[in-house]
Amino acid sequence: MSLQRVLTGITTSGTPHLGNYVGAVRPTVRASREPNTQNFYFLADYHALIKTGGDPVRVQRSTLEIAATWLACGLDPDKVTFYRQSDIPEIPELTWLLTCVTGKGLLNRAHAYKASVDKNNAAGEDPDAGVTAGLFMYPVLMAADILMFNAHQVPVGRDQIQHIEMARDIASSFNHLYGEHFTLPEAVIEEHVATLPGLDGRKMSKSYDNTIPLFAPKEQLRKLIMGILTDSRAPGEPKDTEGSALFQLYQAFASADETAALAKAYADGIAWGEAKQVLFERLDREIAPMREIYDQLIQDPARIEKTLKAGAEKARAIATPFTARLRHAVGLRPLDQMATQKSAKAAKVAAPSFKQYREKDGQFYFKLVDAQGELLLQSEGFPSPRDAGQAIADLQQRGEPGLATLGERVKVVGERAKVTDALRFFAQNPL
Ligand code: TRP
Repeated sequence: MSLQRVLTGITTSGTPHLGNYVGAVRPTVRASREPNTQNFYFLADYHALIKTGGDPVRVQRSTLEIAATWLACGLDPDKVTFYRQSDIPEIPELTWLLTCVTGKGLLNRAHAYKASVDKNNAAGEDPDAGVTAGLFMYPVLMAADILMFNAHQVPVGRDQIQHIEMARDIASSFNHLYGEHFTLPEAVIEEHVATLPGLDGRKMSKSYDNTIPLFAPKEQLRKLIMGILTDSRAPGEPKDTEGSALFQLYQAFASADETAALAKAYADGIAWGEAKQVLFERLDREIAPMREIYDQLIQDPARIEKTLKAGAEKARAIATPFTARLRHAVGLRPLDQMATQKSAKAAKVAAPSFKQYREKDGQFYFKLVDAQGELLLQSEGFPSPRDAGQAIADLQQRGEPGLATLGERVKVVGERAKVTDALRFFAQNPL
């Protein structure tokens, strides 16, 4: 299995609720512990400006809350790259490069933008009334988030699938014009995670005002749960699990055995008040230890700021050289480095190079040789030319950190200093 880069972001426009926890935070923290993955998790605060226009205090507060939530739920910032989008100036820069290869028609078809236009049309308003260019550009900013780190997998909710498809389209357009710079990302949807119902039975969502904040103080959590909408069946009357918000919430937290036991209690006519108490206790059992950490973190924003700054440094170690390569690719080049045909040819001759080949075992290999033809790196077999090509692209784009992440699959054969020089050559002389 080759190393998979997993990336996802959460927009910093609100207070995390149980739906965010079950749908996004819990699965990503779990995924970050999987072997063979490299994880990028970030706070999408540029995206928040699109949704919260004119509420700076809320954006800042939400950034703190979401960062604290991720950390309290067990994300280890030493194991993953955990950062804030707006700490990476290369992201808006990439957004522009991508904007210039994105069809306006593609963006016209984005669900979120179309929904706003439809709403205006239905109300007899100007189609673009109240629609900012930010909303229109949302998918391009999101593509920049993903493509900057060449993510393979992007865990998201169903409502985001179209955005990942657009990121693929945009990446293909760029690659077609300027060479293979971007990996085509894929959405990862947690099939078995049901969307969580809110207090009123509809999908739990800020926009319905039916959420249960993940880290509501214990007493408030109890009160909110007691307010979940149920039918009017009396104690002793059998109850339906089907369509019961209370039951679905329980299921998202409980084991299969616990869930079966509650189903039986429903059939036996458990009183709603009692069922709510069962739900409260089960939720609180999972949440209480995390709540304690969360409350401490929230008291110490300076510590979170430091964690995010350290994450930004890690992220920029990739983003800065990669953006330099992309700038060069599109023609944003220093004028004292004009490529004359002669020097381009000379550089080619004196350059280290990757050679890709297939062995009798049917697998795909590559090696790196320096300008003198000396062998520096030797790969193991890869199942497909695409996998081998991806590993080469990693080494060319990321240099030594790329070598570190490939681990066992690429052996250093030559002198270490020569390897370092050769890899540096690729970073400094993008194709
Ligand atoms: N648009 C996503 C949401 O609202 C958040 C987001 C922004 C994101 N950039 C991303 C998710 C990149 C995955 C990858 O849920």
